[in-house]
Amino acid sequence: MKKIIITLDGFSSCGKSTLAKQLARKLNYVFIDSGAMYRAITLYFMRNHINWNNNDEVQVALKDINLDFDYNDLTGSSDMLLNDENVELLIRDMLVSEHVSEVAANQYVREFGVAQQQKLGTRKGIVMDGRDIGTTVFPNAELKIFVTADPAVRVERRFKEMFEKNPQITIEEVKDNLEMRDYLDSNREFSPLKKAEDAIVLDNSNLTREEQLNIALEWANQKMVG
Ligand code: CDP
Repeated sequence: MKKIIITLDGFSSCGKSTLAKQLARKLNYVFIDSGAMYRAITLYFMRNHINWNNNDEVQVALKDINLDFDYNDLTGSSDMLLNDENVELLIRDMLVSEHVSEVAANQYVREFGVAQQQKLGTRKGIVMDGRDIGTTVFPNAELKIFVTADPAVRVERRFKEMFEKNPQITIEEVKDNLEMRDYLDSNREFSPLKKAEDAIVLDNSNLTREEQLNIALEWANQKMVG
C-alpha cells in the first residue's frame, strides 16, 4: 500500500482533530495539528507583547520562535512545544482562542506556518488538520476531507470539552468565540478557510466516532491502493 497525505479542513470544533487522530492511529501515520502551531505563535505574541498588526514586529518575533511536537504516550498524540516548553494545555485556553484567528490572518504568520507544515509532510504518511491544508499547504494531497457539523452540535461539543477544564466557562462564550473565529477564518485575505474543489465533504453531526472513522478509512484505503 502506498503512503499518502490526508488533509482535514473545516470550521472550528467540527471534530477534525478527533478524526485525524483516529485515522493516524489506525493507519500508523503521523498526526499533525496545524491549529496548535498557530495557537503557540499566538501565545508567544501575547507573552511578549508583540503587536500582530505590525508586520515589522511580527517578522522579527517569528525569528525567535521554534515549534516542535513531542509524542505523549498518555494521550496518544503529540504535545506542542514552543521553544522547548510544553505549551499543550496553555494553548487551548480561551485567552489564546480569543486572539488566534487574528494572529493566523497575518501574512507572515501564514508563510511561517505553511512552510513548517510543508516540511513536516515531505515523508508522506501523515494526517494534518486545519483550515487551508487541502487548498494551500498540500494542494496535491491524495485524500482531502472537508469536515462539517451542525453549528449547535459544534458549540455543544466544545463547551463540554472546555467545561471539564474550566467550570466557569459559559456556553455563550464558547458560541461567540466559535462564530468569531469561523467568520475571521473564512474572510481573511491570505489562505481563507474554504473547501478545496477536490475535497470530499463529511458531515458528522449525526455520526458516532466509529462511524466517521469507518467512512474516512474506506476513502483512505481506496487512495492507498489506487
Ligand atoms: O478550536 P479548533 O480546534 O477548531 O481550532 P484549531 O484547529 O486549534 O485552530 C485554531 C485557529 O488557528 C483557527 O481558528 C484558525 O484561526 C487558525 N488556523 C489557521 O488559520 N490555519 C490552520 N491550518 C489551522 C488553524
